[in-house]
Amino acid sequence: MGDFSQKTAIVTGTSGIGRAAALRLARDGARVVALGIDERVNAEMAELAAAEQLAIRVEKADVSVDQQVRSAMETAVSWLGGLDIIVNAAAIHPFGTVVSTDPATWERCMAVNVGSIYLTAHYGIPHMERRGGGAIINISSVQGFNCQQNVAVYVATKGAIHALTRAMALDHAEKKIRVNSVSPGSVRTPILELAARTYGGEGVSVEQAFQRFGAAHPIGRIGEPEEVAELIAFLASDKAGFVTGADYRIDGGLTAAIGVK
Ligand SMILES: NC(=O)c1ccc[n+]([C@@H]2O[C@H](COP(=O)([O-])OP(=O)(O)OC[C@H]3O[C@@H](n4cnc5c(N)ncnc54)[C@H](O)[C@@H]3O)[C@@H](O)[C@H]2O)c1
Repeated sequence: MGDFSQKTAIVTGTSGIGRAAALRLARDGARVVALGIDERVNAEMAELAAAEQLAIRVEKADVSVDQQVRSAMETAVSWLGGLDIIVNAAAIHPFGTVVSTDPATWERCMAVNVGSIYLTAHYGIPHMERRGGGAIINISSVQGFNCQQNVAVYVATKGAIHALTRAMALDHAEKKIRVNSVSPGSVRTPILELAARTYGGEGVSVEQAFQRFGAAHPIGRIGEPEEVAELIAFLASDKAGFVTGADYRIDGGLTAAIGVK
């Protein structure tokens, strides 16, 4: 019997950290609905779940759109039979300053990275209340604390996730719904590949850029999505029963350092 037998989860994002979290929870007995916007990525994830005969159903949804989250949530909860866990890992990562970021990109990033957390909670928390409690894990970033240049809207969403996590934790503690965030450093996923291609430099491969990013982390490497999934699984489990309103950094020591050697 795994930690999550009898538990049900909705995970947003079907690649990278969301995928690793869904697989981790399902391997430990959870029934999971994974919501993703990209059909190719969704199909890949469904194949992985089927290969391991895991109880994961993958649904196409744009988690920034009210109607889509509402109907995905209804379908999901009726298949799952209730809702105990939400993992919010869907995000986009535009690059730009406030001047070079156009208004549509600003709004889209806010809607996907923060709005989706509001929407899954808005429709999901009443189901959790019926179960007598639940756990929500929002994926933020170290960039919600300290940031690089040229990522203005992305970091604005990541700081907002820290604040929203605290607000949700306070509002729903009485109903035994715990809400925490996780702030990773660099992790080997498609979002980091995008950063590697954007900032890797002329003639530098993604793997070489990953090594350079890794060297900036005191632990000497970038993280793996499965390592983040382990932390998510802890926060989702009853073992974390006294943990709410908190943020957990998983960054190989990146934000402990001042970066001057
Ligand atoms: N990988 C890193 O280095 C890193 C570091 C810090 C924080 N994070 C955060 O981790 C979380 C997961 O990202 P990841 O690293 O797994 O990257 P990823 O690109 O693999 O995952 C993001 C997923 O969100 C999906 N998505 C985007 N817009 C969507 C929408 N409107 N509706 C539904 N799905 C949508 C994408 O298709 C993708 O599957 C994100 O919040 C990201 O900001 C990642």
